Amino acid sequence: MHPMLTIAIKAARRAGGVINRAARNLDVLAVREKATNDFVTEVDKEAEQVIIRTLLEAYPKHSILAEESGALNQQAKSEYQWIIDPLDGTTNFVHGFPQYAVAIALMHRGVITQAVVYDPAKNDLFTATRGGGAFLNDTRIRVSKRLLLKSALVGTGFPFKQHVHIDAYLAMLRDIMQNASAIRRAGSAALDLAYVASGRMDVFWEIGLAPWDIAAGALLITEAGGVISDLQGKDGYMNSGNIVGGNLALHEALVKKIAPYLTPALKNA
Ligand code: IPD
Ligand code: CA
Ligand code: CA
Repeated sequence: MHPMLTIAIKAARRAGGVINRAARNLDVLAVREKATNDFVTEVDKEAEQVIIRTLLEAYPKHSILAEESGALNQQAKSEYQWIIDPLDGTTNFVHGFPQYAVAIALMHRGVITQAVVYDPAKNDLFTATRGGGAFLNDTRIRVSKRLLLKSALVGTGFPFKQHVHIDAYLAMLRDIMQNASAIRRAGSAALDLAYVASGRMDVFWEIGLAPWDIAAGALLITEAGGVISDLQGKDGYMNSGNIVGGNLALHEALVKKIAPYLTPALKNA
């Protein structure tokens, strides 16, 4: 295993320990609303601190982009940047709905090379190294082989923060609802992407994500033989935050399905 992945796993498991301990005591959890419908708890912050400490102990010169702390250690001008979401699915966590994860990715010269998505409630550890395949615990994972949208389990996230996209999104949802087997909105984008990578879900789309929601899951999907892109099938999804990920056939089918509903704002994102 790549030593940088080993450290990322250590950091994710430590953060998972913080999250699991707190999950046993949700009654005393203080929740703050950062922006409309965007919540943070002391658990997000504590988990993030544990991750950053673990990574910087091993690699003091690497830079960091973390959801709660922002950009750290930029002065080192490192070729390496860790992209961290300490708790993806905070709303689920706050409600005791056990679908959330720690997401850690390493970017080297602009390319994601290591990825960890860890679900501490289920002890599911998804990992990938660029060129080395993707794994769930010790087992190699692949995207699903399903070819038709009508038999696909489609995942999505709602644009609950960027209300400007609600109408376009609902038009997409209405069409896909009538043409897919079923749709899920599980509430943790990083874990959703890991589910696509492991074939638990066939294809996924969401508007308005942040780099820390996407980075680790994107590598999991490509290393599991899948495709990830923006809503038009192009690159640049880390900047726009608008993504479609799935196996080759269903990725293409979903990109085609949503194309008629793309507004100029979504096309130029
Ligand atoms: C959120 C989750 C959710 C997605 C949101 C994200 P957070 O992350 O990934 O599924 O729909 O856009 O912000 O805030 O729980 O880390
Ligand atoms: Ca997130
Ligand atoms: Ca988060």
